[in-house]
Amino acid sequence: FTIPAVENEPMKSYAPGSPERAALQAALAEMQAQAPFHVPIVINGEQIKTGKVAQQLNPSDKSVLCTYEEADVALLNKAIDGALKARAAWEAMPFADRAAIFLKAADLLSQKYRYKVMAATMLGQGKNAWQAEIDAAAELADFWRFNAQYAQDVYKQQPIKNAPGNWNRVEYRSLEGFILAVSPFNFTAIGGNLGSAPAIMGNVVVWKPAPAAILSNYLVLEILHEAGLPKGVLQFIPGDAPTLVGAAIDSPDFAGLHFTGSTAVFKKLWKDIAMNVDKYKNYPRVVGETGGKNMHMVHKSADPRQVVLQTIRSAFEYQGQKCSACSRAYIPDNLWPEIKAGLIAEAKRIKVGPVTDFTNFVTPVINQFAFDKIKGFIEYAKAAKDAEIISGGTYDDSKGYFIQPTIIVTTNPAFKTLTDEIFGPVLTIYVYPADQFDETCALADKTSPYALTCALFATDRQALVHGANLLRHAAGNFYLNDKSTGAVVGQQPFGGSRASGTNDKAGAAMNLLRWVSARAIKENF
Ligand code: ALA
Repeated sequence: FTIPAVENEPMKSYAPGSPERAALQAALAEMQAQAPFHVPIVINGEQIKTGKVAQQLNPSDKSVLCTYEEADVALLNKAIDGALKARAAWEAMPFADRAAIFLKAADLLSQKYRYKVMAATMLGQGKNAWQAEIDAAAELADFWRFNAQYAQDVYKQQPIKNAPGNWNRVEYRSLEGFILAVSPFNFTAIGGNLGSAPAIMGNVVVWKPAPAAILSNYLVLEILHEAGLPKGVLQFIPGDAPTLVGAAIDSPDFAGLHFTGSTAVFKKLWKDIAMNVDKYKNYPRVVGETGGKNMHMVHKSADPRQVVLQTIRSAFEYQGQKCSACSRAYIPDNLWPEIKAGLIAEAKRIKVGPVTDFTNFVTPVINQFAFDKIKGFIEYAKAAKDAEIISGGTYDDSKGYFIQPTIIVTTNPAFKTLTDEIFGPVLTIYVYPADQFDETCALADKTSPYALTCALFATDRQALVHGANLLRHAAGNFYLNDKSTGAVVGQQPFGGSRASGTNDKAGAAMNLLRWVSARAIKENF
């Protein structure tokens, strides 16, 4: 049995008057009419209610999109127990049968549930239609299909030689115990991948979804169950993160963490796991993608128009809440007048508002906490002597959490908005003398502890090669003459190093290898 080569999910246009736009608008209207939904805890496929209920708000208008049950430690332990019981049969299932479930889930998403999952992502996570298509339709289907193909590649790897009289082989076993998946709000696809990637390799998973992505993530679980995922393989445990995650990593059966979220939380978990090491049967796998302070580095030979358009998209699509978003840009002074005029003109054209109006490019940030934090950075820049706001700088949370795309220019290379992760629609620019490219690359490389994505712009090919070399360790995803966002599964394996994560590349064989434990077998004839 061989899984045929898979393709990326084709993207739809949502052009005015198109059938897909009508279908998506119908799904949005239906979901709004039915809200608030109620989302249970799901253990062994059974829907569980505790009475301890929290809310997921729609950030466009602060209405309640869904209420959801919160698990306690007793339920978490029940989920772990159920997962461990499901493990033997799941691991023993032929790989092709496991893979078929994820391939089918991708088709179900693509053909039957696309607009529903997109609507949940738009209303719950504040994405406009095109951002929801990239995430909840294309990237999620791609993760499921490419993981199946890459898993097959892993199982085929036999990096060994036979000698006369014996036969050697390597068997890729799943990990003993359970994997804990902790997923973020900003990509429904990441929620779908963090549990599925270990599962396709025969592992069982306890999944703690983000509070601001509950509805879309629950739909993902339902699709996997409809596709045939055995009920104990993926347990859905919403609730208080410190309590549940803390209890999960206390379990002697904890075998690995698949995490996307903040650097601070990941570092804390890493330390807590280390303190628990004597409890575990195995050294756990710790895989995480965390923060970023991604840059666009512009060389004096760059095409200014290209820099403007790609920077606007990277900084402001999804309100700068992609982990890959451009948050700082280094512009040479010879190009600055033209780039400055272009950025201001393009930022002015951006419409800001709720997701249901398809003319809005910038939609709300995720919640009040994010709004207040981003507002704090903008106010800091307004009060500073060594910075100037050249576009935006206003915000309004009277109806939803809306922040005008904001561009700050600073003369201070250590200015707070140039160094700190903001995770909002705020771009900070540092203008440098055009003949100091090498020094500026060195400066930018040292400015933040992160290394997730970086884009380098130049028309001079030698400058691209030279700059890429100077910035060798500045990012796990490096773009030449393209924006720093938009990694596609199967094309650019995604992940960063330094404070941005363990760089175990989502949507790649490299990631799947973390979820197996190899046994080398020698047989004498
Ligand atoms: N795939 C997403 C991006 O690169 C995370 O923007």
